[in-house]
Amino acid sequence: MTASKRDLLALSDWDADALLSVLDRAARLKSGQDGGTPLAGKSLAMIFRKSSTRTRVSFEVGMTQLGGHAIFLSDRDSQMGRGESVHDTARVLSGYVDGIMIRTFAHEEAVEIARHSSVPVINGLTDLVHPCQILADLQTVREVLGPELRERTVAWIGDGNNMANSWINAAVRLGFSLRMACPEGYEPDGDILSRGRSEADVLLVRDPAEAVEGADVVTTDVWASMGQEEEALQRTEAFRGFVVDEALMGRAHAEAMFLHCLPAHRGEEVTSGVIDGDRSFVFQEAENRLHVQKALMVELMV
Ligand code: CP
Ligand code: NVA
Repeated sequence: MTASKRDLLALSDWDADALLSVLDRAARLKSGQDGGTPLAGKSLAMIFRKSSTRTRVSFEVGMTQLGGHAIFLSDRDSQMGRGESVHDTARVLSGYVDGIMIRTFAHEEAVEIARHSSVPVINGLTDLVHPCQILADLQTVREVLGPELRERTVAWIGDGNNMANSWINAAVRLGFSLRMACPEGYEPDGDILSRGRSEADVLLVRDPAEAVEGADVVTTDVWASMGQEEEALQRTEAFRGFVVDEALMGRAHAEAMFLHCLPAHRGEEVTSGVIDGDRSFVFQEAENRLHVQKALMVELMV
């Protein structure tokens, strides 16, 4: 096993300089200032135990653009789906590829893959966190509002889910203010939240209007994440007052951006007027998945 290999399992694993260096590199890759094929001859294994459109396509295209190759592995056609252990899978893949991306349910499974592989592991979403998405969101914020993230206030509305947890991790590292409005019983992870409260300017309230007051960025996500489909009805009830609509956006800064990791449910967590409106940057945000992940792969796999 290579002692020096680096993984990205959660944003809290990396310090501010390392995260900003990914964002700076992503900007150079996007503008064409950086180019070439630094991953020529290299391969990425992509383990998907949950569905994906953006993550799969952006990692695969990113590898192609960097001169490498990506291999899609789903439960349907890999031995993991038939119960082969994480330990054995990690050891075997490490003999073939130069990096592993994993999207799965339990965060501990991604940690296990990283523990037993000798190549870098990137978290493409777990039930706990979604670090690549927040990097893309931060790149979008920098592009629209300017590079200094410390001055910004981000409002999170809705479920205290993997996206919410990663926003807290980012606030701890990068020093922006985070105002979260979540219904009772749907708070972010307890350990991540208490760290956010003690080490950063993170506030949890119950009233979405209070959270968005003067915010520079307003962001939300679906009410039922992958794996929570059976709770959908109960969640629709619990999140009734947490729709991001025009009235709520009106309380934020006049130039506030709207972000959503997608896929979105128009008419549930966000109105069409907001997500399709002129303060929405969701498609720029989705495109930025490609640029930040290319930057990440260059940092980890060259
Ligand atoms: N935002 C995001 O991760 O999208 P996918 O589920 O389509 O990958
Ligand atoms: N919170 C959502 C994000 C999807 C990209 C989920 O985990 O399903």
